[in-house]
This record gives sequence, structure tokens and C-alpha cells, in this order.
Amino acid sequence: MNVMRIQGGIPLRGTVRTQGAKNAALPVMAACLLLKGGTLALDNVPDLCDVSTMMELLGALGVEVSREEDRVLLNVPEDIAWEAPEHLVRKMRASSLALGPLLARGGRAALPLPGGCSIGSRPIDLHLKGLVQMGAKIEIRNGVVHAAADRLRGRRIYLDFPSVGATENLMMAAALARGETIIENTAREPEIENLAAVLRTMGVPIEMEGTGCVRIKGVDEAQPGRERVIPDRIEACTYILAGVMTGGEITVCDVVPAHIDALLAKLEEAGARFSVRKGEVTVFPVERLQSVSLKTMPYPGFPTDLQPQMTAALALAGGVSMVEESVFQARFLYAEELNRMGADIRIKGDTAIINGVRRLDGASVRATDLRAGAALILAGLSASGETRIEDMVHVWRGYEAIDRKLRGLGASVSLEEGAER
Ligand code: EPZ
Repeated sequence: MNVMRIQGGIPLRGTVRTQGAKNAALPVMAACLLLKGGTLALDNVPDLCDVSTMMELLGALGVEVSREEDRVLLNVPEDIAWEAPEHLVRKMRASSLALGPLLARGGRAALPLPGGCSIGSRPIDLHLKGLVQMGAKIEIRNGVVHAAADRLRGRRIYLDFPSVGATENLMMAAALARGETIIENTAREPEIENLAAVLRTMGVPIEMEGTGCVRIKGVDEAQPGRERVIPDRIEACTYILAGVMTGGEITVCDVVPAHIDALLAKLEEAGARFSVRKGEVTVFPVERLQSVSLKTMPYPGFPTDLQPQMTAALALAGGVSMVEESVFQARFLYAEELNRMGADIRIKGDTAIINGVRRLDGASVRATDLRAGAALILAGLSASGETRIEDMVHVWRGYEAIDRKLRGLGASVSLEEGAER
């Protein structure tokens, strides 16, 4: 078990560089499975536990994985396995992104159902429904999805919900299908465009009108490709909120401002001050945020992955804020931990009612999931006294060297003895 200790109350100052996006790196790494002999080279791949898990999964299937700094080379032989190991799929639900490419390249795939997690049940019914529509035979036996198809057929698919994972799995499946696939009501997150860019370098013609409609012309064989992972918009926003909550001045660089419009609009409404220049955002101190209300939505709406961190910021705002979570069923577990630090948050159904307080006090708290852990770190940075955050294992999944990056901004942060990285 690993613990982070924070001495709060220090205004953070300086510059921090954004990592490659976790939620772009995972699907684009899975896309290498479309190759039958050849290498996919990816730059700006973050050094995260979830990325290591994906590398382990690809290795277990027979892919030769190597990393040199932020470049990852994925050399895929002609023949690879088609069964994803249960312990890896259970450890990281993004392993389900192997299903589409494995089925497309070899006509067979076996993947344990990922199961739920602390932010809600995480079904993959939309992924499976789309694959069946493309001609796959799907059978679920003992918690394992068995999928088979001679060759997937391109067709028009309508997603009942703009699911990020379902969009990504079906795009990869369509890459080697016979004919054209048109997917309607897709997710529009920037990570989807990053996957499309990777598939294009692999020789797959893809049109993304950016309107939630993706057209993919299937090819007989994918080509070796090379692409760069986009900056992590959620990590970038987390550091912007660290500046806001500590009354400091932080410049976050290597960020795409257009990807974080939803946060910047809400922060402006709450009275925060910041400047946006090419590739970077600087946030300046203000006396106190004013309360705002928001509802998480699929992109370009306010991201659910930023909901815990924004709630932590609003815990200190003047007035009562309302945060409604519309994407996942149970993404407020962390609120009780914030209340232990003096926050005044009540959960009613899928809405957090946040009565802003003047100050948070350090306490011993526990991270319940990745973004909850980030919210508690932000709270600890702004609180008076010491905060001890347990179960940091969740945070290492998505935040590269967050202790080092925070120390670089002047934070007093240490990892308790025995912390695993
Ligand atoms: C991706 O998860 C991200 N993970 C999540 O980030 C993010 O919160 C989520 O998209 C929404 O933006 C990665 O990209 C690796 P979804 P994903 O399919 O693909 C329901 C983080 O903190 N649904 O868009 O699983 C589902 O239950 C993580 O970095 C179905 O019902 O998200 C959820 O309520 C957390 N059936 C909603 O849709 C399906 O077949 C959104 O899920 C698929 C999804």
C-alpha cells in the first residue's frame, strides 16, 4: 500500500509539462494488434501503471514491446495469441480494447468481461452489439466473451450512447472489415481523433467529420505506422486546478487549449483568472472562486474525469455549487473523504450539493479511484496542515510522477516508506 503526505497551504508556482494522454495511449497501443508482421511506433507515451498493464497484455499476446524514454515500439508478428489473460483484463478495463483488433485480424478473440469498478458498472454491451452487427458471433461463457467471425463486414452502426470505448473498439474492428463502416453517434473526445490519426498512418482511410460520425473504409492489411500521443487534457486540468486551489501561479505547457474549453469556461464563470497562449495555459491567483453549477457530459461537455477535481475546487468556493454526474452511476465516493477534511458536500442522487467553506483541514484520507485520488491531492495541497492519502496505487495509474511534478511547483509532498511506483 502506498501513501502520499502533503503539507498544505503553499501557493504553487512554476511550470509543469503535460504527459501524453493515458486515454489516448491505451487505445492507440491496442491498435498495433491490427498488424500482421510490422511495427507501430508511438511517441509521447506516458510512463503510467495502466500503460505498463497494456504493454503486459500485448506482450502476453505475443507482441514484442520495447520502450525508449517516451517512445514505445510495438512489433507484431504474423501469428499472435487471441485470448486476453483474465488477471490483466480485471486489472484494467481498457484491456477490452483488444477485442476489436484481435477479432478483425484473426477472426477469433476471447476476452474476460472487465467487470465493474468503484465508479459504476462498466458493461461493454455497446461494443458487443456493434461487433455482432458487423457479422461477429459472440458467446459469453463463464464470464468470458468468445467472439468469432470469418471476416467482419462494414455497415452502418448507430451507438445508443457515445461510448468512448465502444467507438474505439468498433473503429479498430472496421479497419480490416470488408467494405465501409459508418458509425453514428460516436464519442467525440480528442482521444478518438488521435486513434483515427494512428489508423490513417497504418493505411486505413478514415473520415471524422467531428460531428459524431466516423467513416472507415476497411483494408485487407494494415501497414506499419508511427504517431504521437496527444497531451493529457485531464492531467493538464488537474494542475490548473492545483494553481487555482492554492492561490498560486502555474503555467501548464504542452497542452491543447481547445481540448480544455469546458474547464476554462467554467473557471471563468467562477471568477478564476488565466491566460491562454499557443500550447500553454497560465493560471493566476484570485481571492476566492464563486460557486457555479455543472453537469458532466460526453465531449465537448464538462468531462466526467474532471468532476472529482472540480468538486474539490468548488468545496472552497463562495456559495453553493451543484455538480451533476451524468456519465457514470457512482462517481461521488470521494465526497465523504473531502468532508473529513472539512468540506460540506451532500450527495442527492446523481448530484453533489457543495456548500463552499473558507478552509479545508489536513486529514488522513483514502483514494477510491484514480480521479478521486487526484481530487484528494488537490484538497491536501490547499488544506492547512498535513494530509495523508492512502491507496495511491489508484493515482499511479494515471498521473506520471505527480509527486515530482508537484515538488517542482514548490509543494511539500513526500511518499511514505514502502511506496511502490
Ligand atoms: C473512457 O472509459 C475513459 N477510459 C474513462 O476514463 C472516461 O471516464 C470515459 O471514457 C468517459 O469519458 C479510457 O479511455 C481508458 P464509456 P470508457 O464507454 O470507454 C456506459 C479515467 O479516469 N457504457 O464512454 O469505459 C458506461 O457504463 C477513466 O481516465 C455502457 O453502458 O467509457 C458509462 O456509464 C475513468 N455500455 C458510460 O457508458 C457500453 O458498452 C460511459 O462509458 C459502454 C459504456
